[in-house]
Amino acid sequence: MQAVSSSLRSLFVSQWSSDVSLEGKTAIVTGANVGIGKETAKDLASRGARVILACRDMAKAEQAVRDIMREVEGARVVAKQLDLADTKSICQFAENVYNSEKYLHFLINNAGVAICPHATTVDGYELQFGVNHLGHFFLTFLLLDLLKHSAPARVINLSSAAHAMGRIHFEDLSGEKDYHPGAGVRSEQVGQRPVHQGAGQED
Ligand SMILES: NC(=O)c1ccc[n+]([C@@H]2O[C@H](COP(=O)([O-])OP(=O)(O)OC[C@H]3O[C@@H](n4cnc5c(N)ncnc54)[C@H](OP(=O)(O)O)[C@@H]3O)[C@@H](O)[C@H]2O)c1
Repeated sequence: MQAVSSSLRSLFVSQWSSDVSLEGKTAIVTGANVGIGKETAKDLASRGARVILACRDMAKAEQAVRDIMREVEGARVVAKQLDLADTKSICQFAENVYNSEKYLHFLINNAGVAICPHATTVDGYELQFGVNHLGHFFLTFLLLDLLKHSAPARVINLSSAAHAMGRIHFEDLSGEKDYHPGAGVRSEQVGQRPVHQGAGQED
């Protein structure tokens, strides 16, 4: 199945790799225990960056750290707890980062939930919009001073082409009135777009 999806992807997206050294750089990758996040963390570590795996489940995160250290000789990776569905956890994570890191060069907002049954964050927002957009927005806001202090630095937000089919339901941010799992993911991806392209360019 993975081979089929990888072949299909190669029809639309060209292969990309880099051998630019990232020695001396520090990166945070959210949701780095599996999928795209874990592969990204592995690539950054293989090029010399110190990588913080920001994950909600520490057992999975520690397993990912062990996997990367086994596969990448000399990898400098650590796991830190972050639940993007909980404002308190985001604050604690940011405080922990300020206490342990002098610099932050890359913040990669990768974690995401998609097409799930209706649920809300601890603060009462619809889960997909709350985790994928609001949680990352708040995290970025809290880490902005450290990023600026580390310039040149960058924030990378993962999104999806599905944003083109969505709109944000500002009148129903908890998604209680009319929830559809697919609409939830599209609206959070719409939310991600202005963050990618610069606030103000969207509707
Ligand atoms: N894969 C695709 O084809 C595709 C297409 C379009 C967009 N994207 C976007 O690309 C990103 C990565 O996709 P993927 O397929 O690699 O995702 P994935 O394999 O489903 O992994 C998602 C990651 O997000 C974490 N996460 C979920 N809720 C969280 C929370 N409340 N706090 C912290 N972490 C949380 C998960 O942790 P747990 O393991 O603990 O659940 C997991 O580590 C996502 O933002 C996704 O929307 C992917």
